Amino acid sequence: MDALLRAVLAEVGGFDFAVSEFVRVSQGVLSAATISKRVPEITGVCLGRTVLPTQVQLLGSNPDLLAGTALEACAAGARAIDLNFGCPSPTVIRHRGGSALLKTPRSIFEIVSCVRRNVPSVIPVSAKIRLGFQNPEEVFDIAQAAADGGADWLVIHARTRAEFYRPGVHWEPVRQVKEKLGIPIIANGDIFSVQDFERCRKETGCEHFMLGRGALLDPFLGHRILDLLGRQKQKSLLNQKSPSQLEGLITAIARFIEIAEPLAQNSGFIPSRIKQWIRISRAFELEFIPRALLTVISRAKTGQDILEQLEQFSGFSSAEIPPRA
Ligand SMILES: Cc1cc2nc3c(=O)[nH]c(=O)nc-3n(C[C@H](O)[C@H](O)[C@H](O)COP(=O)(O)O)c2cc1C
Repeated sequence: MDALLRAVLAEVGGFDFAVSEFVRVSQGVLSAATISKRVPEITGVCLGRTVLPTQVQLLGSNPDLLAGTALEACAAGARAIDLNFGCPSPTVIRHRGGSALLKTPRSIFEIVSCVRRNVPSVIPVSAKIRLGFQNPEEVFDIAQAAADGGADWLVIHARTRAEFYRPGVHWEPVRQVKEKLGIPIIANGDIFSVQDFERCRKETGCEHFMLGRGALLDPFLGHRILDLLGRQKQKSLLNQKSPSQLEGLITAIARFIEIAEPLAQNSGFIPSRIKQWIRISRAFELEFIPRALLTVISRAKTGQDILEQLEQFSGFSSAEIPPRA
């Protein structure tokens, strides 16, 4: 998620920390200034009314360039670094980045150990992996390589690269890696509901979880999971009651518009981002979003067009959101 969406989800609450979208490191070491533009939270910039601690994720294949950029990220204010070994994009793979590295656990070891050696020991360095390039059995060597390189924790997206984003994840190999390695494992993939979460927890034995598309589809899912676990400590800044999935989504979209409006470069930016958001959400569950709302969003030319019409769909009122202090 980008900085705007992270700002919205920080206000929604229910999350411990966020990870930036990947910052690609290919030709040279990126400067602290470049990284700060992509991940403004690390410099103390607050786009909304609160921030989530945010890990800077780097993607590349050259250990020295990644280590140099990780150091620049720390200079900019990053308090944790994540390394991407999961991106399935053909362009990224052509440049031997992301999930291409799953084919050579030795390169994962070299990258993680080089970054780990170069950044201060108080800065955690984690790795985001998939189960393998082709076969879920590959995960054992991959995870071991990252752990041997000194990764403080691993996020495992429980699919292979060959599976891309096809529905269906494999929790069993995640459980086996968790039992074998002595570092925390964060389970990731297809957690769209409290039921999906329960199944993941039971089948992996994990204590840490990452939500991607589930948090777009149901922004209050983090709260629902905390409620289930009896660990709810923090109220949402956006809604004091437990909203339905539709109310939660509308609240988050409305807040996105408010936060993005002063920053948008052109009037089409906000509707195009919301259309992208809904496209990702719709791929999983069509029924809960009323057709009339989809029409409003698809026809909107500006963020205000959408904001003005949201109220009719869930009783949401933008006046409920207190202005920023
Ligand atoms: C549009 C999109 C962009 C993504 N960008 C990143 C990224 O920059 N870094 C990353 O580690 N994962 C990225 N992912 C993968 C997610 O982090 C996550 O591993 C994957 O979507 C499975 O989890 P989910 O089912 O909870 O979404 C992206 C996924 C999507 C759909």
